[in-house]
Amino acid sequence: MAQFANVKQLFDITGRNYIVTGGAQGIGLAMVHALAQCGANVVALDMQAAPSTDYASLAKQLNVRLSYVQADVTDEQGLTAAFHRAFELLGGTVHGLVTCAGIALEKAFHATTWAECRKIQDVNVTGSYFSAQLVAEQMRKQGTREGASIVLVASITSHTVLPQHRMSAYSASKGAVRMLSQALAVELAADGIRVNSISPGFIDTEMTQEVRNANPAMVAIMNDTPPLKRIGTRDDLLGAAVYLLSDASAYTTAADIAITGGLHVQMALDNKLAQQP
Ligand SMILES: NC(=O)c1ccc[n+]([C@@H]2O[C@H](COP(=O)([O-])OP(=O)(O)OC[C@H]3O[C@@H](n4cnc5c(N)ncnc54)[C@H](O)[C@@H]3O)[C@@H](O)[C@H]2O)c1
Repeated sequence: MAQFANVKQLFDITGRNYIVTGGAQGIGLAMVHALAQCGANVVALDMQAAPSTDYASLAKQLNVRLSYVQADVTDEQGLTAAFHRAFELLGGTVHGLVTCAGIALEKAFHATTWAECRKIQDVNVTGSYFSAQLVAEQMRKQGTREGASIVLVASITSHTVLPQHRMSAYSASKGAVRMLSQALAVELAADGIRVNSISPGFIDTEMTQEVRNANPAMVAIMNDTPPLKRIGTRDDLLGAAVYLLSDASAYTTAADIAITGGLHVQMALDNKLAQQP
């Protein structure tokens, strides 16, 4: 008779320590809540002065350690200092990272400026790159690699072009993030560190609210184009993050989980049909 693992235990991240970039609002804030709910300690990093949730009372309520450190992921010295502060706040051991700090731009290719394009690559690609580097370095130093897992937030735009959207600079950055995840997965495997990505589709956050405010036609696009016929919520992403951080995904590295309501496949089909004579 085969012996099977205790599956609930595989998902258990109680007492583990995580860092979430972009943790002041949106998807990052939801990740902080989710990990804390699961009994993990979390440090959120973000460029905003303060998070949109009172972390102190949440920490008390959930009986975990939650801290907030202000940092710009594009500032080499500031980011290095912020991560070192985060490691201290976590007692010197970090089990994982989720990179949610990111910016988007919906703008025609011909009108996009050097400054706009550089800014997007700097925040989304270089910011994720060095956040991962700082965490991997700490994981190597601290002696224990138990549960060592890095989750990079890419995007559906690393899979396909979105309907009625012109996001060339953003798509280029998210394609880079998804490939970065694969490159790191292979390079860091020898250190016992797993690296995966999550590619959200349309998710209801401040980021997409701005797009919908600027162009009301986007409301219907975001709700009707996914095969599951609704915009995603931040809650739709949380299970995948907990899975990728926990031992339930111990043999999963270099994977991307696309959480799009099916839109990344639907778009690929639509684009194929559109090309037929
Ligand atoms: N919302 C969506 O539909 C969607 C879809 C696919 C991918 N994503 C990605 O998910 C991530 C989170 O998106 P969101 O919707 O929560 O966006 P959001 O704008 O609501 O939150 C992004 C957070 O990142 C922080 N941030 C931005 N630049 C930073 C910097 N230089 N340094 C530190 N922090 C910085 C912001 O202050 C903010 O708190 C982004 O990488 C985004 O590209 C979002």
